[in-house]
Order: sequence, then C-alpha cells, then structure tokens
Amino acid sequence: MSHSSSPNFEGILTQALAELSSAKDSSSLQAWRTRYLGRQGEAQKLLDGLKSVPAAERPAAGKAANDFRKALEEAWTAKGGGEAAESVATPGVDPTLPGRPYPSGVVHVLTQTLDRITDIFHRLGFALADGPEIETEHHNFDALNTQQDHPARDEADTFYLDLPPGPHGRWLLRTQTSPVQIRVLENRKPPIKIIAPGRCYRRDEVDATHGIFFHQVEGLCVGEGIGLPHLKGVLEFFFRELMGEGTKVRLRPHYFPFTEPSFEVDCSIPGKTFRGKEWLEIAGCGLVHPKVLRGVGVDPEKFSGYAFGLGVERIAMVRHGIPDLRLFYENDVRFLKQFAAYGAV
Ligand code: DAH
Repeated sequence: MSHSSSPNFEGILTQALAELSSAKDSSSLQAWRTRYLGRQGEAQKLLDGLKSVPAAERPAAGKAANDFRKALEEAWTAKGGGEAAESVATPGVDPTLPGRPYPSGVVHVLTQTLDRITDIFHRLGFALADGPEIETEHHNFDALNTQQDHPARDEADTFYLDLPPGPHGRWLLRTQTSPVQIRVLENRKPPIKIIAPGRCYRRDEVDATHGIFFHQVEGLCVGEGIGLPHLKGVLEFFFRELMGEGTKVRLRPHYFPFTEPSFEVDCSIPGKTFRGKEWLEIAGCGLVHPKVLRGVGVDPEKFSGYAFGLGVERIAMVRHGIPDLRLFYENDVRFLKQFAAYGAV
C-alpha cells in the first residue's frame, strides 16, 4: 500500500465487510479476524505504515487508519456479539468453564481446635496468658510442689538443656503448661482468671498416642471464695460447647502435686464410645494447693482457686476421629486439607 497518496480505506473496508458477512463457520471467522484485526492484519499494517507518511499528512492519515480499524472492530463485534465472538474466534478456549482452582492453605486442624477452645473460655471471661517453652526447674516442678524424687523430673522423661543452671535451677523444655500458673501468680495479684495454651515437651517413645511434643491448655482461676462448684460448672459448660449438647462431665479423684483435691476429668459424649467405653479421660484439674499459693506470696487463707489442664491433640482426635497423633505433625497435605471445611472458627 502506498503512503504518499491516501490509501483506499473505503475499498478495503467494503471488501472486508462483505467477507465478514459471508463468513459462516468458525474457521472462516477466525481467518477473517486474523487477516484484518490480527497482529499483522490489515488494520495494524496501516497503523505501522503511518511512520513513513510525511509529517504534514500524518494527522489525517492517522485518523483515517483509526476509523478504519474501529469500523472493522465494530463489524466484528456486531457479527459475533461480545463474548460469543471471543469464543468463536479462539477455538479451544471455552469461557463457560470454571477457572483453574488456586491452591490455598488451610488452618491446621490443631490450630482450629485451639482457636475453638480459646473462644469458649473467652466467653467465660478467661484472659490469655503465655509463658516460655524453655523453663526453669523451679517453675516447671518446685513451685508446683513437685517432690524431688517425682519420676517426671527424671532425665529420661524431661529434656534438660545443656546449660549451666541459673538462679531457678536447671533449664528444661517445659513438660506441661502448668508453670504458666506460677509465672502469672508471680506477676499479678488475684483475682486471676486465665488460660494458657502452648506447646510442651516430653521424652517419650513416639507412637500413635505419644509424641515428644504436644499441646496443652492450662486454666487458672484464683480469687476469694473460689471452689469446686465453679470448677465443675466451667468444665461442664466448656465440654458441652465443645463436644455438643448432652455431653456429660465427671470428676474422678486423682493425684497432681499442685492441686488438692485433684481429679481426672472424664467426658461422656452422646452417640460416641472410646474403645468400647462410654467415658473418656480428657483433662486433669483440682483446687490450687495452698503450698503453691504461699510460694508465690498469695495468702491461702484469703484466696483460693482452681486449675485445669487439657490435652489439645486428644481433643482434636476425639472431635474429628483422628486415630494417630503423628498425623498432626507429618504435614501431609492430603491429611491436612480434609479440614478445609472447618476453616476459621
Ligand atoms: N499439668 C498436668 C499434666 O500435664 C495437667 C494438669 C492437671 C494441669 C491438673 C492442671 C491441673 O492445672 O490442675 O499432666
């Protein structure tokens, strides 16, 4: 095409429109589009050619080229009509298909369980407390009234750190969240009402129900006139909310060094049995031992309280029917993504 004289837009346009109206199948439509509107099509060639048009003629030539292209595009749209034209023009692409799924993460089932647990206690007025995972022998054992010869202190059961002992004795990875009770009582005056979720470590043989680390949620409530009815009421409400209407709780006498009396908490959930039994051991609890209170400078004549400790893995296993603890930590996406439906709490 010559650029020195005005190109015959009219003629090309008439021809293009005639061709378009006689194009019937998708391949001739596609061919038309490539020929006129494609990247090396007629409309583009005209626009490219503008560079060599003398400057004086360029504005007029530019406008003509643009009008030409617009007319072609309008004819194309009118013929196919919006999206339909696209689908005809691009064989192999079906715009009615759903998009490709984008892989998205899932809140870990243990985190979901923890969120659910903290949410229920939050509603009962418990604040969140935190403590270090590297603890002292004092906070993890002594201040919790644990005898010197208690088996839990054994090097075979507890991970001690290879560090010189500090003013609070040897360093260790906490074996329970109970030391947070001590840290909170050291730093705050009653009334106190907290839960402390977190990771604990024990030197165990790893199997379906034991790991070298696991999660607990500690609870502590200290004030004037706090006693067993408060503890039982809180646990009953909590387990009913967590496991469903009709869930029953019973306290069975037990021994923990830092509570007196102490109990194990059993749960009965409608329609569920655990290895053929109705009752499932699910937590430990009791009234805070007067020695523990005295040790942190709280007068046991004036204040009393209760404490409890829950195992998070155990609760998640019961809620979701998970048979093996190790599944939580293997990060197998096939396992984890099953809990996508639960999402946030
Ligand atoms: N710390 C105990 C454990 O790991 C659980 C526990 C029992 C916590 C009784 C408590 C409690 O606060 O009162 O076995």
